[in-house]
Amino acid sequence: MDLQNELMKRTAMFNTYWQQYLQIKKPATLYEAARHLPFAGGKRIRPFLTTVACESVSGDAQKALPFAAGLELMHNFTLVHDDIMDHSMLRRNLPTVHVKFGEPAAILSGDLLFAKSFEAILGTSVDFSMFKQLQQDFIDCVIAICEGQQLDIEFEQRKTVPEQEYLDMISKKTGALFELSSKGGGLIGGGNPQEVAALQTYGMALGLAFQIWDDYLDMSSTATTLGKDIGNDIRNGKKTLIAVHCLSHATGKEKRLLDDIFGNRSASEHDVTKVYDLFRELGSVEYAQQRALHYVNQAKDAITVLKPSDAKELLHQLIDYIIQREK
Ligand code: IPE
Ligand code: IPE
Ligand code: MG
Ligand code: MG
Ligand code: MG
Repeated sequence: MDLQNELMKRTAMFNTYWQQYLQIKKPATLYEAARHLPFAGGKRIRPFLTTVACESVSGDAQKALPFAAGLELMHNFTLVHDDIMDHSMLRRNLPTVHVKFGEPAAILSGDLLFAKSFEAILGTSVDFSMFKQLQQDFIDCVIAICEGQQLDIEFEQRKTVPEQEYLDMISKKTGALFELSSKGGGLIGGGNPQEVAALQTYGMALGLAFQIWDDYLDMSSTATTLGKDIGNDIRNGKKTLIAVHCLSHATGKEKRLLDDIFGNRSASEHDVTKVYDLFRELGSVEYAQQRALHYVNQAKDAITVLKPSDAKELLHQLIDYIIQREK
């Protein structure tokens, strides 16, 4: 099975499915703002993961679609608010929602997507006790994202952050949603407890590798390829794993360079490049890449308990793709 082919096929099917939650009503601006990101594309990795995880335990992927839609709506909601918090101007190669529609509409359209995500999961046809578990997991996941995002913002003001705290922060802001995308698919597919636990561990490890790689792309990609502003993490003083490593290894002149540029919202492109050079010189980029690889291997180990299948093969390919992708 070819991952890119499957991603394309399943994304097309998913896009048709979730449009029912994105109908235009009045006031039009609210709905246009809410539809802006969902219709701008996106990799749809979370719903892909949910359907594949469901199949990996011999479940029917169609049954997982409402929950997958809920997860992707929730993801899109977090992006709208994340872009306000991170002062980001570009997402999915388009102006961000607050740039195009203004902050009030961005906040409200985010809230609308949040509500729609709960509406979507209501469509999951499973027995009542399973539904309650999925709903509780969904709620816990949203709470984790809020906690992680708050930590991410608080870390901007800190001089240094220990790696363990960084990992805790990304396990919440990003890991939790991947974890549930995978676990939820396993639950809906009728996986046994051992399979569901394996998918859960896989999802979290995938999420950690995903965020470490996202941080790397912010410094290595171009805005056109990534579809997002690049260099933003430096100017915002984001404690990415690369920064965490660099901040704890820099001395003398290097420290002064970071003091001047890291977290300086008006730093020039030239200044930002100097920080990138330092990241490379101190081995911080290589370190983060190795850590991402560690989680890739953890994810692969986790799913050894799953029976051989095309879906399991896709889960293997997905984790490799996470640290090879360019956007
Ligand atoms: C971006 O997620 C937010 C992070 C967790 C880093 P994606 O990279 O999956 O964004 P889209 O959905 O493809 O735009
Ligand atoms: C995103 O982290 C985490 C979310 C929960 C939205 P980032 O702030 O690094 O994501 P991007 O780079 O803006 O997509
Ligand atoms: Mg952010
Ligand atoms: Mg951001
Ligand atoms: Mg990022």
